[in-house]
Amino acid sequence: MSNMQFSDEFDFENRILDTSEIPEDTAESDNPLRPKNLDEYIGQDKAKENLRVFIEAAKIRGETLDHVLLYGPPGLGKTTLAGIIANELGVSVRITSGPAIEKPGDLAALLTNLNEGDVLFIDEIHRLSRAVEEILYPSMEDFAIDIITGKGQMAASYHLPLPHFTLVAATTRAGQLTAPLRDRFGVVLRLELYTPQELAQIVMRSAGILGIKIDDDGALEIASRSRGTPRIANRMLKRVRDFAQVMSDGVITVDTARTALDRLEIDELGLDRNDRRMLEAIIKFYNGGPVGVETLAAAIGEEAVTIEDVYEPYLLQIGFLSRTPRGRCITAEACRHLGYDFPKGAINAMPTQPNLLDSQDSQ
Ligand code: ADE
Repeated sequence: MSNMQFSDEFDFENRILDTSEIPEDTAESDNPLRPKNLDEYIGQDKAKENLRVFIEAAKIRGETLDHVLLYGPPGLGKTTLAGIIANELGVSVRITSGPAIEKPGDLAALLTNLNEGDVLFIDEIHRLSRAVEEILYPSMEDFAIDIITGKGQMAASYHLPLPHFTLVAATTRAGQLTAPLRDRFGVVLRLELYTPQELAQIVMRSAGILGIKIDDDGALEIASRSRGTPRIANRMLKRVRDFAQVMSDGVITVDTARTALDRLEIDELGLDRNDRRMLEAIIKFYNGGPVGVETLAAAIGEEAVTIEDVYEPYLLQIGFLSRTPRGRCITAEACRHLGYDFPKGAINAMPTQPNLLDSQDSQ
């Protein structure tokens, strides 16, 4: 099978485990599942409680909140948090992303259209071009930009004051940010994968909003298979509801959830065919590792960044994969789950936690 076919399969069959945003997930679409304030927001307790203090303090002082950098794997609610920060501050949020800001002029247009105190949310900030980053620095620091027009003797420089604003930036790869950019954020928050218990609460809340009948065990079953990610949990909830409606009386129980998710080939730990394919490749082709991420990516017809951002965080979290200086290694735990013997001579490295602030090398 060619790599192309692999990619086609990935897009089609794995929609449910895809962590990229789709229109129904975005803040602009007014997704009813999106919590509007910190009290409604479940999980991320450390980040949430610190934010609560910073927001309150900024309000007491009558100042804008310092710029905030949110980092962590996709689907954990970075856009949601940006909306919540704006709501808690009582201001508006403008949403954009690194790749959407092509030229310095695009950023200047966004900034000059903000109102005093507004939140500007830039997703995927690591994908900003250098030229745009250069004008972001003075905007963040001095709330002003210098615009140069014309050339040679006709050149003129204008100092353009901007409204005070809070930049909330999100990235899956904090290690790729330049140091000067990273240093300009007063608040840096790392978002963690959610526990099954937190995800079960999110599923119960979402079911309530959508009018779906579900019991506690049904919610926990969906939560346990959602790889620590609310976006996946909410999407799974909607698909399991379809099965519950057609196969039983519409109530999601542990049995309907299990049947539905088995049918969707998502196992008890939330692994899908792509996770299994990647882990099996490490076992079969690389004797359990170590194998560099680029090599592994080529072997399974996937992008290295997809492996790093989408597959790996959860596999590292559940101790199925470890990152060593020489590459990725399978763990004995993963072999047991997949029904393989731990390869003879393979290194049983200690599982490592993903650290997204580390520079993301390709090993
Ligand atoms: N929906 C998606 N993420 C959520 C969260 N963290 N809390 C509540 N509902 C959510």
